[in-house]
Amino acid sequence: MRARLAADFERFGRAMPRDPAAHVRETYGIDLTARYLGFELPHPIGKGSGQLSLNADQLATDHEAGLAFVVLKTVIAEDDAGARSMDAWAIHETRMKVEQRTAADGRDGWTVTWKGRGWDRPFEDYLALVRIAGDLTRGRALLAVPSVKYHLPHLDQPFRSEEYRYTTGRIVAAWGAGDVPLEKDFSPTLAGDALADERQRILRWLREVPGEIRRAAPGAPLRLAIKLMNARFDDGFQQEMLGAVREADALVCFNRLWDPEARVAYGGWDLSERNLRVLHAAQAAGLRLPPLVGTGNVCSGRLVLDYARAGCESVELHTFFQLPLAAYPAREGSRSQRALHALFFHPDDGLVAGMLELERSGVLHREGGELRFLDLCRIGGQ
Ligand SMILES: Cc1cc2nc3c(=O)[nH]c(=O)nc-3n(C[C@H](O)[C@H](O)[C@H](O)COP(=O)(O)O)c2cc1C
Repeated sequence: MRARLAADFERFGRAMPRDPAAHVRETYGIDLTARYLGFELPHPIGKGSGQLSLNADQLATDHEAGLAFVVLKTVIAEDDAGARSMDAWAIHETRMKVEQRTAADGRDGWTVTWKGRGWDRPFEDYLALVRIAGDLTRGRALLAVPSVKYHLPHLDQPFRSEEYRYTTGRIVAAWGAGDVPLEKDFSPTLAGDALADERQRILRWLREVPGEIRRAAPGAPLRLAIKLMNARFDDGFQQEMLGAVREADALVCFNRLWDPEARVAYGGWDLSERNLRVLHAAQAAGLRLPPLVGTGNVCSGRLVLDYARAGCESVELHTFFQLPLAAYPAREGSRSQRALHALFFHPDDGLVAGMLELERSGVLHREGGELRFLDLCRIGGQ
């Protein structure tokens, strides 16, 4: 198996197979089937919301590369007069810097430094992208998911329901037939904002926002994922946040950390350490949660497996799709293809290598001759 994997790694570095998950199943007896919001996926690797999912060309490239799903850039909710209470999040900023960041434990990882925030073009342009996303999803080409940041009030204020109604209604209509997947983003810039300096305020948002969204589109077949921020409080509060969410169909755990001095969001090993630690603590505490999706510093197949053992049925990456070309072992293909190549086939750190190692160490067992990725979410452990 090891020799086979080394050979696959070598040749797929020049051109990936058309259907990498099918190849893994046939060759290694590994079933990578995963889930996002109840949608079945061929494998667990998707793209998180951000600057890499802004237009139809990027979606086409990701479909071609074989990503399992893509979350569109977050749009800022508005009412029918175009008013946005979260307007400060719609700023325009193009400059991004991909750089190394040393974590508290000394490990060097990658982070993207960027001062921008949400979608900064007209809402109508976003709806055009949602139409394409609906078509791609229905055609089973690529699950593509809209993402929204809605109004978040102070404790003594009501929600601006009109923004929820107008934005959700337009997105549902643009999507077309079938179930509508939707992510609600609580972003790291929000964590760094004075709005999020009170625990009770954050907990109220988590309890009430999903219901607000559902009431905004009565009867619509919404599947709602809540993407949680890393608040500036301790792990205990982070767990409390997990437990506070009501009426969500999935939780995405957790968006980037906030650096209060540089006033930027960041990732790297500090992020995955914190996310995995909190998820394992929630597991150990027996917290009953909706299905989980991991995000944060997924830079190898091993990290995908770490998130799976922390309960995540799939993962959404951003930074690893944005590295300098020299950082990928593949020599050909789009960044999405090169990333998948390393994540699937790296002979030490890849998904296949990691699954085979879990089999050897007795953590994972074959059922009907196959190792199944989703079994890891049930098995847990570290
Ligand atoms: C430049 C940049 C822009 C992002 N924009 C958004 C966004 O608009 N909405 C959102 O939910 N997450 C956003 N994210 C977060 C990513 O989707 C992802 O969850 C996070 O970066 C952690 O994954 P990573 O370590 O693989 O980058 C952004 C991340 C980066 C680096």
